[in-house]
Amino acid sequence: MSIDNTMDHQLAAAQALKYADELRQLHEIERAHRRGVEEALRRLEESYATTVRALAAALELRDDATGEHAERVTRLALRLAERVAPHLCRDPQLEYGFLLHDVGKIGIPDAVLLKEAPLDADERRELERHPLLGERILAQIPYLGGLARDVVVAHHERWDGAGYPLGLLGTGIPVAARVFALADAFDAMTNDRPYRLALSTAAALGEIEREASRHFDPVLAAQFVTLFADAEAA
Ligand SMILES: [Fe+2]
Repeated sequence: MSIDNTMDHQLAAAQALKYADELRQLHEIERAHRRGVEEALRRLEESYATTVRALAAALELRDDATGEHAERVTRLALRLAERVAPHLCRDPQLEYGFLLHDVGKIGIPDAVLLKEAPLDADERRELERHPLLGERILAQIPYLGGLARDVVVAHHERWDGAGYPLGLLGTGIPVAARVFALADAFDAMTNDRPYRLALSTAAALGEIEREASRHFDPVLAAQFVTLFADAEAA
């Protein structure tokens, strides 16, 4: 091998090492950048969650003196969702929808929302506007959509098609809303209301079993009941 050839090889090797070092540095810069972006996204997600929680608590104070219904029903609905549709739980929109399910009630007059006597037909129609009012409110907030919208719009639909606002039937109702409807009904039954005292857990679960295939998805209703049986056995 000539001296010239040897020098060419040495130069090429040095050049290759230089490129390799530059690539390594670029890779480190890119990784640091990616970590920074991921951290920023995590913080943004946290601030979304905090804001949604604060909004849910503020909304609750209007018709629930304790302001705890949304958090309580959200915890219960998440427990059921983790059992029957764990893939949905990876999307934070699910929890946002649970927390803000009744956001549309902000547009319902006090005379209807806070009335302690049974509602007449007009008042009931007025109250039943809240899912679609909620959908309109969510549409104004860019980070709320998807599963959150499903819950807000469809949480009063019934398995037998007799719910509102759209009269959706069976699996035509988004699963997130079918899950939530069970937790919402159970929470309503097991807490005092102005017009009736709370039912026991056993009585509320019995009512849910009776309403399976009418009000509730029968498969989800059975899973909901076993949530309590499993918790008792644990
Ligand atoms: Fe509602």
